[in-house]
Amino acid sequence: MPIPAFDPNRAEALMIAARAATAHAYVPYSSFPVGAAALCANGDVITGCNIENASYGLTCCAERTACFTAAALGHREIVAIAVTATRVPSVTPCGACRQVLNEFKPRHGDMTIILDGETLSLIPLAELLPRAFGPHDLE
Ligand code: THU
Repeated sequence: MPIPAFDPNRAEALMIAARAATAHAYVPYSSFPVGAAALCANGDVITGCNIENASYGLTCCAERTACFTAAALGHREIVAIAVTATRVPSVTPCGACRQVLNEFKPRHGDMTIILDGETLSLIPLAELLPRAFGPHDLE
């Protein structure tokens, strides 16, 4: 299993950014605000929230919003991402988000997923998405 490249001392600050990002969640259908904060390889922190749609299936989760925003700004390696939801103590990325996050794992080492809760949980992405299909499979 690849080694996480993330300094756990940064987890709390990243979670604070994720919690702040819930303020912009667009959730008229679920009323379930989610926030995410991605730490990019160069140290930039890019946040995201869930953005729902009247055509429900087109909803974008907070993790994907953060990930796609980072990619659109030119980032290609996300070292860690913190995720939180206002209505539950802890939330974990859905399957679609796990696959999208896998695309932007650091080249050397794994991405760390930080889940909210009484104490934060730091989980390597490879644990949430074992035997993942990714960019290397197309080489
Ligand atoms: N959601 C996220 O944004 N991230 C997750 O990790 C779980 C679910 C969103 C999708 C939808 O807007 C709402 O939460 C309820 O599923």
